[in-house]
Amino acid sequence: MKFFVDTADVDAIRDLHELGLVDGVTTNPSLIGKSGRDFREVVAKICEVTDGPVSAEVIATDEDGMLSQGRSLAGIASNIVVKLPLTLEGLKACRKLTAENIRTNVTLCFSANQALLAAKAGASYISPFIGRLDDIHIEGTELIGDIRTIYDNYGFETEILAASIRNPLHVKACALIGADVVTAPPAVIRSLATHMLTDKGLDAFLADAKKAGIKV
Ligand code: G3P
Repeated sequence: MKFFVDTADVDAIRDLHELGLVDGVTTNPSLIGKSGRDFREVVAKICEVTDGPVSAEVIATDEDGMLSQGRSLAGIASNIVVKLPLTLEGLKACRKLTAENIRTNVTLCFSANQALLAAKAGASYISPFIGRLDDIHIEGTELIGDIRTIYDNYGFETEILAASIRNPLHVKACALIGADVVTAPPAVIRSLATHMLTDKGLDAFLADAKKAGIKV
């Protein structure tokens, strides 16, 4: 499974990239706004610090506007993936950008039928939002399983990019189901490596080594 980091914080991306834990980056208008930086400048910088796919989202809502913005975004760097909302206009733009060999990430997916349409439109990635379904008491990871089954039934090559990941349990569930990618905030990615019993056990080993005067 690939790990993408879901942020526009360049320093956080660089730190995780150096750990070898980042296979790509996803952004969205909210994350870009949070960065306080110029959209194109921060996206270009992110594309420099990682050689993996970098998703940058259009803000147009009509097909022509999405095509214009998508083509412009794709021109920023070769690793740009154009993020499009899962609307009928977004699906039309996805089909045309895909035909131009521009990679696409269809986002704000909340149902299996939406994901089916995105795959038929040739999306490179589909982004089902787990956390936001959990927020309304719908099991978000069940959607990942449904999409996995449907895509495997028909051999769709669209990659399932599980998004709105809020905790390590989401990551585990996606790995068990077979999502191709999870995109998560830097803190969630870092938390995957931690466990209180690991810390406790290491402390005990080091204390015993010190007590015994072990030299390695
Ligand atoms: O990539 C989508 C992600 O940023 C949304 O996460 O926590 O706002 O639902 P969240």
